[in-house]
Amino acid sequence: MRKILVLEGDGIGPEIISCAVKIIELIKNKFHLNIELEFDYIGGACIDKYGVPIRKETIQKAKKYGIVLLGAVGGYKWDKLPIRPEQGLLTLRKEMGVFANLRPIHSFPVYTGPLKNTSQIDILFLRELTSGIYFGKPKKTKIVNNQKIAIDTMKYSEKEIERVVDMAFKFSQKRRKFLVSVDKANVLESSKLWREVVNRKSKEYPDVKVEHHLVDSFAMNLILKPQYFDVVVTENLFGDVLTDEAAVLVGSLGLLPSASLSFNRGLYEPIHGSAPDLAGKNIANPIGTILSVALMFKYSFNKENIHDLIYNGVFKTMEEGILTFDLSPNKYYSTTEFTEKIIDNIIKLS
Ligand code: IPM
Ligand code: MN
Repeated sequence: MRKILVLEGDGIGPEIISCAVKIIELIKNKFHLNIELEFDYIGGACIDKYGVPIRKETIQKAKKYGIVLLGAVGGYKWDKLPIRPEQGLLTLRKEMGVFANLRPIHSFPVYTGPLKNTSQIDILFLRELTSGIYFGKPKKTKIVNNQKIAIDTMKYSEKEIERVVDMAFKFSQKRRKFLVSVDKANVLESSKLWREVVNRKSKEYPDVKVEHHLVDSFAMNLILKPQYFDVVVTENLFGDVLTDEAAVLVGSLGLLPSASLSFNRGLYEPIHGSAPDLAGKNIANPIGTILSVALMFKYSFNKENIHDLIYNGVFKTMEEGILTFDLSPNKYYSTTEFTEKIIDNIIKLS
């Protein structure tokens, strides 16, 4: 029996997670899988209930079960508190050791965004997730000469770079054998080391072509020629920024899933936030979370057939012109109606 820890979080978190749970139940029954779900708290919801953004017990369970499905954290309500809801997520990622955040960005059957060059995109981002400027010490605000000075530290060890880069090479081998590493090696020490490690690693993977791109020009080329890229590996903050940018290429932040992996654990969450403005209206797009479930079956259960089935169900639904508010504000299906349509299609396809 495998247990999945489910953390709904804040804002639209509970709504999109309840859609994802329906998909898990469907798959569980269809394929007779021995899976059990256990719910717990994270983020603002956890601060409200327990005074902390995540509890030690929850982290223990996350480590023990090794599979976590998460909605989103954060919201205006907790903006002014000394501890932020986001800290719960960052602690969970760090404690689970899920250093590689996979963010697949590919064209969907429907594109209603503002860009022109958006077909046939298929990029796999690997964002380093447990180090860099998010976690580097010192990290503080102090007073010097009567004014506040705020410090963040971008720090990487060779080992931290090596393990995510190694995973990126392995994914490249299974795809177009073309790896782009994004850094700012013309300015940052941590990027110089990053580049050095990538070059060293590349000797172990002679079949993979490697290019180094500086983050500023990469940000531009990502919009100009997205079809050029295949696997992209980068550090934590660059990856955070670039994958929100990449979301515009495929239509909506609401569409995109992610899998954060260590060698034996997986944390699955959509790449979007808690969208407090959409919360409670039954209009959020559940696709990012449903596809995160697909990634969970692929990476934590080794069931690529289930991954493909969920993807096909989502694609078929979009092909039928059934869309959510973010993609079609004038004629849309509610979050729950849309999920029922996906369920119907998964049943038809299986
Ligand atoms: C993301 C989010 C998080 C991050 C926040 C909520 C801490 O933006 O998953 O991309 O910055 O990693
Ligand atoms: Mn982000």
